[in-house]
Amino acid sequence: VTAEGHRARGVQVGGPVRGPDQALLPVAVVGATGYAGGEAVRILAGHPRVRLSYLASHTRAGLPLAAVQPHLRAAGDLSLAPVDPERIAAAAEVAVLALPAGASAGLAPDLLARGCRVVDLGPDFRLKDGEAWRRWYRSEPAAAEWRAKAVYGLPEVRREEIAGARLVAVPGCYPTAAILALWPALASGLCHPEDIIIDAKSGVSGAGSEPTAATHFCEADENVTPYALAGAHRHTPEIEQELSLAAGGAVTVSFNPHLVPLSRGLLCTCYARLARGADGAAATALYREWYRDAPFVQVLSETLPSTKPTAGANACHVAVRVDGRTGRLVACAAIDNLQKGAAGQGVQALNLMAGWDETAGLGRLGMYP
Ligand SMILES: NC(=O)c1ccc[n+]([C@@H]2O[C@H](COP(=O)([O-])OP(=O)(O)OC[C@H]3O[C@@H](n4cnc5c(N)ncnc54)[C@H](OP(=O)(O)O)[C@@H]3O)[C@@H](O)[C@H]2O)c1
Repeated sequence: VTAEGHRARGVQVGGPVRGPDQALLPVAVVGATGYAGGEAVRILAGHPRVRLSYLASHTRAGLPLAAVQPHLRAAGDLSLAPVDPERIAAAAEVAVLALPAGASAGLAPDLLARGCRVVDLGPDFRLKDGEAWRRWYRSEPAAAEWRAKAVYGLPEVRREEIAGARLVAVPGCYPTAAILALWPALASGLCHPEDIIIDAKSGVSGAGSEPTAATHFCEADENVTPYALAGAHRHTPEIEQELSLAAGGAVTVSFNPHLVPLSRGLLCTCYARLARGADGAAATALYREWYRDAPFVQVLSETLPSTKPTAGANACHVAVRVDGRTGRLVACAAIDNLQKGAAGQGVQALNLMAGWDETAGLGRLGMYP
């Protein structure tokens, strides 16, 4: 979305928004009944430059949004409408899609063909390699043309590309934390690109709002469970795709996720072999320099990241340590999986696409306790 494009359409860009509702950018949320879509609505309802113009549900069109998302009652008199590309594109300049894997592959190109920009919170356009999609998702990939054109939406490493994109593939929650934890070390040659271990923990909302046996209260509460170990998790190829770009050569990772008894929150602890001598202070200084202009990444030095301080905020807390005894770099990142891990990051990308301040409408302060 260029500033010129908005002006041509009568949408206000630049400067504070003072006018009536029509001056705001009309945005649709498709999948507004889910966890990620609901969080997108929560953020966008308070965004100073956005008007929620269409909220779509696959199976619950016709219901008031508050019937499904009672915490959003004060967002206004909002109702759910069908997932109809013609109506969505007529109502909105940008559509945020928060749909299960495979559901955006057909819808996004349809919206794009009708002139609507797309911020996809799902995985359909993240992998450039169609074979990798087939292997991990066991289905046909989205159209090669749009996979090639989609910009992987991690603003901390791809700010300019996102600003010019029509389709942004917002990273998954685990990849966001893992990539932000490892990118500076790989890009600067501080660690080796092979033999990287990512030990990850996610709260239960990461699995979506559809209940399963694993997310049943009695299974998830007071329990910590590994799952999809040893390269079985679908986020593995996405992490490797992006970290290979950081390292300038193939990176393979051992990515091992765990389900922990939290509603929100995700922590990655990453282990990599040091490629050159450095102590903790030097590694922290390197990370600070790398993220100097990244408003949502806080590099900690005295304390270590934990999930709770990031809850409700589009924040990533990162820390790095050097284990001189084993020659390993240990890097941690904590995020709220629904904020920096999904909807918050999606709005961060939307802000860049619209030519606005990256932080518009987004909170950087966590809720505590
Ligand atoms: N949860 C997270 O922490 C997180 C983080 C990063 C990325 N994501 C990604 O965001 C997407 C949504 O995740 P979620 O956790 O919000 O899932 P969710 O709570 O299960 O919500 C899924 C949404 O998709 C809609 N939907 C289901 N099948 C559909 C179909 N065939 N066509 C159109 N809409 C359909 C549902 O609508 P109705 O039920 O109203 O019909 C619902 O609104 C996923 O791709 C996920 O990987 C999630």
